[in-house]
Amino acid sequence: MQKREVDFLVIGSGIAGISYALKVAEFGKVLMLTKSDEDESNTKYAQGGIAAVMYEPDSYNKHIEDTLICGDGVCDENIVKLVIEESTQRINELINWGTQFDKTVTGNYDLAKEGGHSEKRILHHKDNTGFEIERALLEQAHLHPNIEILSHYYAMEIITQHHLGIWVNSQTPGIECYGVYALNLKTEKIEVIAAKIILMASGGCGHIYESTTNPTIATGDGVAMVYRAKGKIKDMEFIQFHPTALYQPGQHPSFLISEAVRGFGAVLKNKEGEAFMAKYDTRKDLAPRDIVARAIDNEMKTRGDDFVYLDCSALDKEEFIKHFPNIYNKCLSLNIDVFENLIPVVPAAHYMCGGIDADEHGRSSIKNLYAVGECARTGLHGANRLASNSLLEALVFSHRAAIHSIDEIENTTFMKGIPDWDAEGTASPEEMVLITQSLKELQAIMSNYVGIVRSNLRLKRAFDRLLILHKETENLYERTTVSKQLCELRNMIKVGYVIIKQAMQRKESRGLHYNLDHPKLNA
Ligand code: FAD
Ligand code: SIN
Repeated sequence: MQKREVDFLVIGSGIAGISYALKVAEFGKVLMLTKSDEDESNTKYAQGGIAAVMYEPDSYNKHIEDTLICGDGVCDENIVKLVIEESTQRINELINWGTQFDKTVTGNYDLAKEGGHSEKRILHHKDNTGFEIERALLEQAHLHPNIEILSHYYAMEIITQHHLGIWVNSQTPGIECYGVYALNLKTEKIEVIAAKIILMASGGCGHIYESTTNPTIATGDGVAMVYRAKGKIKDMEFIQFHPTALYQPGQHPSFLISEAVRGFGAVLKNKEGEAFMAKYDTRKDLAPRDIVARAIDNEMKTRGDDFVYLDCSALDKEEFIKHFPNIYNKCLSLNIDVFENLIPVVPAAHYMCGGIDADEHGRSSIKNLYAVGECARTGLHGANRLASNSLLEALVFSHRAAIHSIDEIENTTFMKGIPDWDAEGTASPEEMVLITQSLKELQAIMSNYVGIVRSNLRLKRAFDRLLILHKETENLYERTTVSKQLCELRNMIKVGYVIIKQAMQRKESRGLHYNLDHPKLNA
């Protein structure tokens, strides 16, 4: 079995993983594992942009206030403050790494507006900001002699005392991380990768739902690995549904119609042509996402419709095409001319607000393991993420985690004697079908019972159904040669379980968690 030793091991090559790698690479060898092509990530598909305070009349206080309002009482105020006060610095760094944001004729950045923002503050690159950020960061990473990227490498488990047969109890120091077991998807061999410091930057979990804007890599692997290792996971009940994914039945993932389109003036309408958002919130189409997604859900359910419409017909054609060329062309490819036709849209699972509990330095509850980006729960988003705050969060915490890990690495050594992975098991073709069927079942359970609107009965039913899937999958895992598909399924079931458990514990409706049996906010 191949064994490697690196100073810094990074799991994930989105904005969180790469921006961290670029900072620590001056201080040691960095190995970045990524389970698909190196650019495949949620980051690559980000459309609207990245929120930051750039010019007056905007101010840090306004951005802080908007984030806190959106987070509905669950944000950590100190974290919100520090993230937003560092936003301008981190954006300038991103620009220095080569990211191009759109500018106006005056030479200032062209700032857009999205739901929940009281000012225009979203820096963007047309409607494919994430693609531009990923391009610039990867270009920098390729130039650095200390960064090695292994694509099509799947991190299966983080290595802790458990794998060395060391018993951890309340009398011993806490859980420590020594590296990962990783499946090389080209050779199908499992390797031990030992590291002094490990960064989890594995992104979100959209694929536990039938309908999601996330690419297929978003299977919650990091959260599941850390949960199995007994690390702390928080706020998982807050799953954000984006209000406006393009309605295309059977399409998985769904194409996003950016919130910036509503920021540009587009209006949600039901099939009767009624602009319904005024009935739900004074901020209408630019209310925070939880409110807009619930309003759409309610319109669809009470009217028996499968979608609502987004009306762009009154918008300036030339400017629209300049700002949203990909959205315009995607719609056109489906015979939807957005100036003649309404765009059919539905909410889709989009963002995991909770995750691996991480402190202001990005430290998880497990020693030597940091967690940054969408897989982490830092306290910035609370019960509902403010639009375009996630790319910013990833940048700020990668920076902070890098500073902290550079300090720590001097006093950290490699763990010796890590055993090889026990690769016993048999595979048969019948097993692939079991995996794909179980995945469909999981997605149906999560979508039907743990979606935008929940109830005690729905959650209980989801919990019971998931237990059956869990038992079947663990049984399969024990007698089967491991594959990425099986590990992902196992992880998605684990993440689903944590979401349901934490949703059951919250006896109120707050932010993205709405329970018909507890419709009020607890004081
Ligand atoms: P990701 O970018 O998802 O990267 C995760 C990486 O981990 C990937 O490389 C993946 O392959 C790898 N990985 C995962 N599991 C494993 C494993 N087991 N082994 C090895 N590698 C693994 N946010 C905004 O702020 N503004 C926006 O405009 C915006 N628009 C969005 C539009 C869409 C369609 C989507 C899906 C999201 C959008 N978001 C937006 C959210 C934002 O893009 C993500 O939250 C952010 O990019 C997450 O970055 P990350 O580095 O944490 O994770
Ligand atoms: C969008 O462009 O609507 C996505 C923004 C986000 O998820 O922050």
